[in-house]
Amino acid sequence: MCGIVGYSGRAAAAPVIYGGLKRLEYRGYDSAGIATLDGGNISVAKKQGKVSSLESCAENLSGETGIGHTRWATHGKPSDTNAHPHAIGKFAVVHNGIIENYAELKARYFPDTDFLSRTDSEIIVRLLDKFYSGNLLHALKEVSSLLKGSYAVLVICADFKGFAVMKYKSPVIVGGGRGESFAASDAPALAGLCKKISILEDGDFALASASGVKIYDNNLNPAARQKIINRATAASLDLNGCAHYMQKEILESPSAAENTVKAFSRVQGKLKEVFADVARVIITGCGTAYNSGLVAKRYIESFARMPAEAEIAGEFRYKNPVITTGTAVIAISQSGETADTVEAAKLAKSLGAKVIAVTNAPYSALTLVSDVVVPVAAGHEICVAATKSYTGQIAALYLTAKLLASLNKKPAAQTMKNAKAEICAIVPLLTDTVAHTDMDALAQVCARADGVYFLGRDIDYAVALEGSLKLKEITYIQSEGYPAGELKHGTLALIDENKTAVVIITDENLAIKCENAVEQVLSRKGKVAVITNVTGCARRLKGKVPVIEIPPSPKELSPLLSAAAVQLLAYKTALILERNPDQPRNLAKSVTVE
Ligand code: F6R
Repeated sequence: MCGIVGYSGRAAAAPVIYGGLKRLEYRGYDSAGIATLDGGNISVAKKQGKVSSLESCAENLSGETGIGHTRWATHGKPSDTNAHPHAIGKFAVVHNGIIENYAELKARYFPDTDFLSRTDSEIIVRLLDKFYSGNLLHALKEVSSLLKGSYAVLVICADFKGFAVMKYKSPVIVGGGRGESFAASDAPALAGLCKKISILEDGDFALASASGVKIYDNNLNPAARQKIINRATAASLDLNGCAHYMQKEILESPSAAENTVKAFSRVQGKLKEVFADVARVIITGCGTAYNSGLVAKRYIESFARMPAEAEIAGEFRYKNPVITTGTAVIAISQSGETADTVEAAKLAKSLGAKVIAVTNAPYSALTLVSDVVVPVAAGHEICVAATKSYTGQIAALYLTAKLLASLNKKPAAQTMKNAKAEICAIVPLLTDTVAHTDMDALAQVCARADGVYFLGRDIDYAVALEGSLKLKEITYIQSEGYPAGELKHGTLALIDENKTAVVIITDENLAIKCENAVEQVLSRKGKVAVITNVTGCARRLKGKVPVIEIPPSPKELSPLLSAAAVQLLAYKTALILERNPDQPRNLAKSVTVE
């Protein structure tokens, strides 16, 4: 959510920053801008639209130091003026985050000034300009003490041959190498540029120049931050012949599951310790991560026979949650940066819960508040819609629940070796599903529908919610996920010939019940398709409605396959409607603001 990039070195800054912004575009794509510094002169180019709209004007920016921004608007509509960088006097800044008290600060310090933009971010550059008296770090410190909210800010100042960084609650990494320094919101921006990166902590500042990056803590004392390998490489970000990242990432789901299983061994011991006295589990996350949490709830209840609840993180953090002795909170987040999930985890921890992070980002804000990190080894996910990370989460949560069951010696307990083997046995079936499931005909039906209802029972209902989220976010078709049995209690009123129901059926024991929902929709002239691995169900329904068969699997692992099917359905439908599946309107990946 908003991407920022900074460079200072010996090369022309604008092309380096442009390349970094292109690789960060998944964080926002409604406007973009670059500012460079050349011999004390600051030049700015900024435009509404995607990063590519900057290509021609960026060429005219001279200087070997610069900062750039790709925006996901929070305050102020997407426009050239509201695009970052914001420049005043000797300063230009780019900002990721939200300054919650910007109106208050404006009224206090600039009551008579007409601001150039409608953004919350402009206040930062105005304050720097006001408080600067020759010492950049002191000005940063003074300004940061006034700001409320979240920020990762890059600053160029006409007096400093480099750029400065300040960070609070929004992610920023820094790195350096032979005569150059970098900063960015996320590792892919620095793919191929920087092999080792450091993650700044809340309250940190940094000065970056051709002679390296100097990090300071909140008291402006020099600080050392751990250096980690930047795993994003040019090759890892390649589309590999796919038309979109979404397609590529769905195809990578089998390796996400397989690598997650391998990575689990590293944390098994620590997880056992954390689970030692646990008697109840709350699972939290947002969007797709919450949906995988709904699957995890079923795993924990059925394998470990332990009470488990799933709570949307943005709700959990603002209620007064009941955390009793022996409560563990599992916080799920692909990015590890989602503000609501990180704050929910912090709240849980402050109330005495053990916190288990399940994340694809091993060095993220979420991992800092967790007692143990269960890795999702899906690799970088660039498409805004989560796909392979969901698969990785399901694999990680399955193993986590099995481990809990084994500690509690419940009937579902088995050796972890068996649990891992069960997932590995699904991997070839998943490879087959993502490569060969034919969704073209059903996608045509969905593309013409006024609304699409995803229905299922039990674990299939959790996948129905994910199918609906995926479809609505990348096609903009109105969609709902619903428990199949609930249809007749209200939602059926919406069914007519322009509506489509996609019914997911992977449990033999519930198949007949779900087929009732099929009949109920057909009777109201709605269109219906079924995704199933139940042979009898397929036999009964073929000829009556389109049936998409997915490979048979143990019931609990069916989400690995049925979710891949609904992801493919959403992808194909988006293509028919000529939507960009990688960059859906109004959205961005990694929601680091509230
Ligand atoms: C949907 C999607 C979002 C994210 C949600 C949480 O396809 O990608 O709903 O799942 O914003 O993000 P993370 O997992 O990064 O916390």
